[in-house]
Amino acid sequence: MTLSRVPLIRPPVAFDDVEESLRAVFESGIFTRGEYVENFRAEVAKATTATYAHLTTSATTALSAALRVLGIRPGDEVAVADFSFPATSNAVEEVGATPVFVDVSPETFNMRIDALEAAISDRTRAVIFVSTFGNPTGLHAIRDLCRGKGLPIIDDAACAIGSHERGARSGKIADLSCFSFHPRKVITTGEGGAITTERKEWSDRLGRMLNHGAVVENGRWEFVEPGTNLRLTEFQAAIGIHQLRRLDAIVAERNRIAGEYRKALAPLGFRAQTYASDAGGNSQSVVFRVPEPGMRDRLIAHLKGAKIESTLGTYCLSGTAFNRKRYGKVCPNAESLEKETITLPCYEGMPLDRVLSGIQSFF
Ligand SMILES: Cc1ncc(COP(=O)(O)O)c(C=O)c1O
Repeated sequence: MTLSRVPLIRPPVAFDDVEESLRAVFESGIFTRGEYVENFRAEVAKATTATYAHLTTSATTALSAALRVLGIRPGDEVAVADFSFPATSNAVEEVGATPVFVDVSPETFNMRIDALEAAISDRTRAVIFVSTFGNPTGLHAIRDLCRGKGLPIIDDAACAIGSHERGARSGKIADLSCFSFHPRKVITTGEGGAITTERKEWSDRLGRMLNHGAVVENGRWEFVEPGTNLRLTEFQAAIGIHQLRRLDAIVAERNRIAGEYRKALAPLGFRAQTYASDAGGNSQSVVFRVPEPGMRDRLIAHLKGAKIESTLGTYCLSGTAFNRKRYGKVCPNAESLEKETITLPCYEGMPLDRVLSGIQSFF
């Protein structure tokens, strides 16, 4: 019998789930800026409990839009959590500012507050916290520190739809929060993103910026400032809505699978990402530190031989080829996490026993 491949993730939506909606989009002839986009935007606001939500083409474009709304420009520094996908610091480069990398906790994988305090200079204009793999632990504490210093905070919540800390949903905690709907995320539209805020002024500015700086005045478009096109299509929105309406069930199942992994792998010496007792994640990625340094790549290769997909956790941003050459200071915890973490498959209906046997057979 040939074994089928176990992918890292499978989108929580099937063609049958959305066939009717997609047919309705085709039949309407409205492929953009229609009712599905508007409903999806409203569902994002509902799921995050945010007052204002806007859709974007990705989390990367959401992050650079957030930085533009804050007026970040060349010469400014933006403190950035160092364990993340390069999109986080690329967004800072995109607006011409300088990322200052802040080391993370080896337990929660999130920005350390003491390291942030040490990184803040008189050129710091904003902070990007990353809710790593959907874990918002520490976000309130860092937000409060930022408020005390008059610095705006962005939550790179690319992975964090459906997560919460201290009773507040991701999307409602930071000044601006940026989400991703890439296929590796909990909800996917193929590509796509969203940005949420509580501030009307920023929301109004975002609304214009995402659509060429346009507002409707006296029944016609007025282009009141420069902007761009970060719009999603009706097809993407139709796919996203279906999943977002099931968000709580999707998150509950992912967290259940993550719990099973923890139970089975702790005795082998795997260390899971930790959460504060008042924080809850969505297990966007199930990531462990391997029992011994140097074991990770061999384990990934072993699992590949068993047709099980796995990958590294994420990247040490200060250690990428570009940043190492340009800024020359690598954060040690993020550097070890990049080398020692593994992401394991997690999705509804996955063959967990097969993945666990694959891991156990490595030892
Ligand atoms: C923490 C983080 N930020 C930003 C991004 C970029 O998301 P997108 O692909 O939607 O631009 C990712 C994607 O992996 C991510 O993990």
